[in-house]
Amino acid sequence: MEQQRTILVTCALGVSQVLSQEIKEHGYLPLKVNPLSVELKGNLRDCMYLNLHLRTASKVLLLIKRFRAPHPDQLYQVISKIPWEDYLRTDGYICVTSFISNQFILDTRFGNQKVKDAIVDRIFSQKGKRPNSGPNRDESVVYLHWLNDDCHLYFDTSGETISKHGYRRIPFKAPLRESLAAALIKSTCWKPGMPLINPMAGSGTLAIEGALMAAGIAPGLLRTNFGFMHIRQYQADLWETLREEATRQITQEVTSEIIINDQSLEALRAAKKNAEWAGVTSFLKFQSGDFTKMEIPDPPGVIILNPEYGSRLGEVQQLTKTYQAIGDFFKSKCAGHWGYIFSGNPDLSKNIGLRTSRKMPFYNGKIECRLLEYELYKGSKKND
Ligand SMILES: C[S@@+](CC[C@H](N)C(=O)[O-])C[C@H]1O[C@@H](n2cnc3c(N)ncnc32)[C@H](O)[C@@H]1O
Repeated sequence: MEQQRTILVTCALGVSQVLSQEIKEHGYLPLKVNPLSVELKGNLRDCMYLNLHLRTASKVLLLIKRFRAPHPDQLYQVISKIPWEDYLRTDGYICVTSFISNQFILDTRFGNQKVKDAIVDRIFSQKGKRPNSGPNRDESVVYLHWLNDDCHLYFDTSGETISKHGYRRIPFKAPLRESLAAALIKSTCWKPGMPLINPMAGSGTLAIEGALMAAGIAPGLLRTNFGFMHIRQYQADLWETLREEATRQITQEVTSEIIINDQSLEALRAAKKNAEWAGVTSFLKFQSGDFTKMEIPDPPGVIILNPEYGSRLGEVQQLTKTYQAIGDFFKSKCAGHWGYIFSGNPDLSKNIGLRTSRKMPFYNGKIECRLLEYELYKGSKKND
């Protein structure tokens, strides 16, 4: 695991350009940017580092082998020749996951079973004992990407996804996935030092991600278990060193004013708890009330709102007023700042009534969304 291999860092649809930039900021060279992943070269240590630091990623996959296999029998043959006993413990536990598009496989569970059989049969033939296997991702995870006859077999060094950053114990309503919230903040003009205002904060994900960035807290510091810890080449002392280096980068000197506001006291309670788990409470200001009544600090700052999108008619009618109120709020109170709306409903977004300077596409789960940017100078033009 010392030698350079392909590392594939996966992400949500729409995020790969932001992820690629984030990978560069950590000194790595992205070799290929795909819609759902970024490819680079590295070893197990690099995977550990990336799992610790990346805010916008879902998984860090380390290539074990690429090979051709048109049929499940060939898949079994190739995989059972890999020296798994060098990588996995006989008393360990393996989970196999996959993406498969191959004419002989109608159910991915069958493909996963073939991979699992090849691994445990190989270990049994060498060691006389089989590791356990099943669906849990909390020990070693092997991931197969099989398209026609082209197979890529990886260690999923993350195990459980790293798109969750481990601080959200109370979700409140429709919370954003932490990695998406981080990607949205990274797509705005915000930089640590500038005000960051989240007037409809819900459980606080956007502001908490901003605070984590401002304080330099690596998201992986909040987590104790990763897939790489269950590979035999894992060195606990190296992980401790990486954690210590990351801990030294944390700063208490957060100069950004970061405001969490929501009209729901229940949402604020959730946001406060989540901020506490993230270790950023002291960097945040909590306010309750209607966003239209907020006092906005001096510019230039970023004001980011994630209003509900509404699915039922009554909701949409009510939300039309909310979106109009956001437009008025931007015009009357936020001149000199950058305004952003993250929404999955383009018809509702038209009610903002201001000209966008950028429209950035993202997906929130399966819903196509836009991050809309408004440069709010005095007397912002009506979009008519
Ligand atoms: C979709 S949720 C935001 C979710 C959030 N991004 C998260 O990750 O948890 C929208 C939030 O806007 C709040 N809200 C709705 N109308 C509001 C208003 N007029 N003033 C302040 N907050 C409002 C709701 O209480 C709700 O928490």
